[in-house]
Amino acid sequence: MIIDIITIFPNMFKPVLGESIIKRAQNKGLVKINIYDLRDYSGNIHKKIDSPAFGGGPGMVLRPEPVFKAIESILGESLYPHKKKNSKKNIVFFTPQGKILVQKDIKRFLKYQRLVLLAARYEGIDERIRKYAIDEEVSIGDYVLSGGELPAMVFVDALVRIIPGVVSSRESVLRESFENNLLDYPHYTKPREFRGLKVPDVLLSGDHKKIKEWRKIRAYEITKLKRPDLIEKKRKQT
Ligand code: ADE
Repeated sequence: MIIDIITIFPNMFKPVLGESIIKRAQNKGLVKINIYDLRDYSGNIHKKIDSPAFGGGPGMVLRPEPVFKAIESILGESLYPHKKKNSKKNIVFFTPQGKILVQKDIKRFLKYQRLVLLAARYEGIDERIRKYAIDEEVSIGDYVLSGGELPAMVFVDALVRIIPGVVSSRESVLRESFENNLLDYPHYTKPREFRGLKVPDVLLSGDHKKIKEWRKIRAYEITKLKRPDLIEKKRKQT
């Protein structure tokens, strides 16, 4: 998979993409992540990418030209008026107006060979970008951040870790449990007793059937307590 990220803050991405699982995935050749500076496509020597809004009003609006030019240059094909239909690429824009991301969506994005992520500042983007350049608008929650950079990083992290081969099978089991609309069960490690606090006997019993049952029940109880909405979702699915 290739992920192209367009941003006016390329340096924000480097430390995050250069560590841990995302770094490992790139080193293994399972994903290629390219960062592009939107200002390089400004079309003017001042590298200005925004202008005041037609009709007046506060704040600046992101101009269409740099965004169209950046995407067209990255993909090597025209966005408008000659956009290819049924392309196996997807252009995602991060905005609080987008669909709130859940694990199921992340899984759906795996089918694309190539994703272009536009991480812009929220103040305003020219509507023609929204209509003719963007395929999907994504939000990471009902709160407003100062830009789409952090949402883009959240998206990349969630996506890259489910690319087959990126994390070990032990970790993927945990992931599946979230897909079941259940939160994770409690974990314990050494020592068996810490300041008088004991590890539940069942986990030390060696009885794998019993342990599995205990974990299932605890996962259900925890989900019911912390996220009753997930239990409701699960009920509707069955
Ligand atoms: N840009 C600003 N806030 C955002 C959010 N909550 N999700 C996605 N993009 C954003």
